[in-house]
Formats: sequence, C-alpha cells, structure tokens
Amino acid sequence: MVTVVIGTQWGDEGKGKVIDYLAENVDIIARYQGGANAGHTVVVNDKKFIFHLIPSGILYPNKICVIGNGVVIDPVSLFEEIEYLEKSGIDVEKKLFISENAHITLPYHKLLDQIEDKFRGKGKLGTTGRGIGTTYTDKFARIGIRVIDFVDEDVFMEKLKIALELKNYLFKEYYKEEILSPEKIFKEYEIYRKEIKKFVINTSLYLNEEIEKGKKVLAEGAQGTFLDIDFGTYPYVTASNPIAGGACIGLGISPKKIKKIIGVAKAYTTRVGMGPFPTEIKDQIGEKLRKIGDEFGATTGRPRRCGWFDAIIVKFAGIINGIDEIVLTKLDVLTGFKNIKIGIGYKYNNKVINEYPFNSKIFSNCEVIYDEVDGWDEDISKVKKYNDLPENAKRYIEKIEEKIGIRITKISTGSSRNQTIER
Ligand code: GDP
Ligand code: IMO
Ligand code: MG
Repeated sequence: MVTVVIGTQWGDEGKGKVIDYLAENVDIIARYQGGANAGHTVVVNDKKFIFHLIPSGILYPNKICVIGNGVVIDPVSLFEEIEYLEKSGIDVEKKLFISENAHITLPYHKLLDQIEDKFRGKGKLGTTGRGIGTTYTDKFARIGIRVIDFVDEDVFMEKLKIALELKNYLFKEYYKEEILSPEKIFKEYEIYRKEIKKFVINTSLYLNEEIEKGKKVLAEGAQGTFLDIDFGTYPYVTASNPIAGGACIGLGISPKKIKKIIGVAKAYTTRVGMGPFPTEIKDQIGEKLRKIGDEFGATTGRPRRCGWFDAIIVKFAGIINGIDEIVLTKLDVLTGFKNIKIGIGYKYNNKVINEYPFNSKIFSNCEVIYDEVDGWDEDISKVKKYNDLPENAKRYIEKIEEKIGIRITKISTGSSRNQTIER
C-alpha cells in the first residue's frame, strides 16, 4: 500500500514534520520529485534537521528511504546531508537507496539557474538557485546525465562534454561568463561518483517488489500543489509535478498501488519567491505571522510572504490530488490573533469567482472575499485532544473543513512529533 503526502499550498506546509510523524507506521519513505530546492524540517528531541534530498523518514533506525527517479540530485547537497546525519549519529548506509534513473544536477545547472533568473528582469521567478529548472530542462532536452551515467566514468565524460558544448556557448557568447571545463567538473565530482555507487539500485523494481510483499510506502512530496508546473501559478512555479500524480511517474509505480492521499495545509498561507498570492497580508499582521511562525525559508533563508488561509486553493488541491484527508499544521501560530480570516472567494471586475482561476491576470488582481472567526488566546501547543482545543480554534478548523470539503484528521500545534492531535 502506498500513501502519498503532498503540499496543498505553495510549499513549506510542514510536510517534513508530518512525514516524520507518519513514518512510524510505514516501512519505506520515498521522495518522488523536486530536488535540493526542498527544505523539510524535522524536530526530534529538540534537535532540528533540515532535509533537502534525503526523505524525512531517515531518522528512524529501521526504515528504508528511497530517492526516486523523478528527483534531481545535486551530489554536493546530498553528501553534505549524509555527512551531517552521520556526524549526528544517524546511520544512512544500507537505509538509503537512490534511483539509477534520477538526473544529476551539476555546477552548470546551478550557475545557469542563477544567471537566467537575473536575466529574466521583470519576469524574475525568485528560484532557489539550486539548478532545479535547468536540470529538468536538460532531462527533457535529452542531454541530462542520470545517476547510472554519472557512475560510469566513460559515459559521464562523454555526456558532460555534450551538455557543456551548448552551455559554454551560452556562458561565453550570451551571458559573458567564464566557460566551464568538463575535465575540472569530472575531477571535482570523482569523489561523489565513487561514493554514490553504494546507494544506487533500480528503485522502481525494488519498490514494486516491496509493495507486492505487503510493505507500506509513504511517498513524500516536495513543494506544493500551486508550485506544480502544470497546475500551479505558472510561470511562478517549480519545474516538476509535486501533485499526487507525480508520485507514480517519479517512483515508477502504478496508480493502482496508491491507496491514500494526505494533504498538508498550513493554518494560514505562505509563499517564497515571486508570483500571485491573493490572501497575502502586507501590513504588520503579516509581519506578526512571519515572526511568530518563524517563516524564513529552510533552504534559502529568505523571508516567506505570509497571508490568510485560502480555502479556494486548498479545495482545488483536494480535487486534483484526490485528497482523502488533511493535516492542518501550525495552528499554534494563530494563538493571540484577535480575528482570523479565511479566503472563501475572489472578486474580479465585479464578478464573484468561486474556483481557482488559471488566468493569472485574474489571480494577480482579484479581491478576496473573506469569512472571519474570532481568535483565541490559550496556549494550544500542549493540547493532546481535539476537544481540549479552545472553542474558537475548533470553530476555525470546522469552518476550513466546510469550505474545502475535506476532513481534517490531524492538527499540528508545534514542530515536534508529539505536538500532533489525532481527531
Ligand atoms: P516543508 O517544506 O513542508 O517540510 O516545511 P518546512 O520545514 O520548510 O517549514 C515548516 C516549518 O514549520 C518548520 O520550521 C517546522 O519545524 C515548523 N512546523 C511544522 N509544524 C509546525 C506546527 O504545527 N507549529 C509550529 N509552530 N511549527 C511547525
Ligand atoms: P518545500 O519542499 C517553498 C519556490 C521558489 C520559487 C519557485 C521556483 O520545502 O516545500 P525552483 O528553485 O524550484 O525553480 O524555484 O518555487 N520553491 C519553494 N517554495 N517550498 C519549497 O519546497 C520550494 N521549492 C521551490 O521559492 O518561488
Ligand atoms: Mg520547506
């Protein structure tokens, strides 16, 4: 049985915490898309871990973690993470498998990502600069380098030269940058080529065999539904498919194997980088949310833009992902707010819109129609039972549920595993 966990907003919903919490009851945790643009935070015994590529289940001693074919892997970032984990006494070897088919992010991908975003001028996306879009571009242009190519020195060198042919032309003639030497990259990455070998297998075959044996798999989504290349706020999106459907492609498993889809939604909304965000709060209330919620990017450290919960987008996330249940995170952050708003519709040119519009002119310029509930002042970070939550907090949860049409089954009131209320 496979359960997929996805973000229902613009990323950073608290997927890392939720995956770590759910991982206790599964055998395998598998990442299926994105790359080191992700920053998934897990807090265990007051120690904070931020995962970029390694699945958020790695802290359990007896679970297997898989990086699937749909992920783009930056070896520098991967080995930094492995080293950090091993220094913290977490064993990674024999617990981590990496797909032969995953594509490798190399220095020119990161450089080009950063240069391209600068050259976009007004159309700047505010990418993480981790070479995500450029690695996926090469994958689709069929000049990418897969893990299986990377570990073979002849194939790697040959493919590196082909990839750099055009990149160096761009660097030199168009961007007026220095060109990159394939020999230098080859040498610099030799250590990673050797080290990665022990993790590499045919992960799709492995996962299918394990599923057949009755093992439970948790597919860990990165980013969020509205950063999805097809369904997000294009072009202000990432270059992969974070939605639940992406799990099949990014792991090589049949849609028939997916039994449950869990959406993670933050009790308010945040977004990093550029792009429309109708419920964004630009005054001191937004500042307060950022401060109390500690809303700074786990990957780039950038301040996250903050706003009210947008029920329209989460409802749409429910539809396209087929979400069975929602985990509502960071409810504790809303403690102390006098009134709490929920976006329940948009208004554009005097017309009311009740669905998420793909038209960016509408989404960028619409006015939000809000519903409002009274806030609460009680500390909820230690509440264990749903019924012990303040009445207004319950009212807020039930209002969200009603507007999105999906049941909220878990409520997170802090970054630790035990700060999770089962409903
Ligand atoms: P992800 O990318 O979806 O995994 O989310 P991030 O890790 O980037 O951001 C979520 C942040 O909120 C992290 O710092 C978490 O430790 C923290 N967090 C998760 N759940 C809760 C919660 O219920 N309450 C509070 N206060 N913090 C939380
Ligand atoms: P997790 O998994 C929040 C955003 C970037 C930028 C856009 C494109 O931690 O939720 P990219 O580098 O992917 O080409 O950048 O997507 N972005 C994220 N925002 N959380 C993430 O991941 C993100 N990954 C990418 O800020 O706006
Ligand atoms: Mg994050």
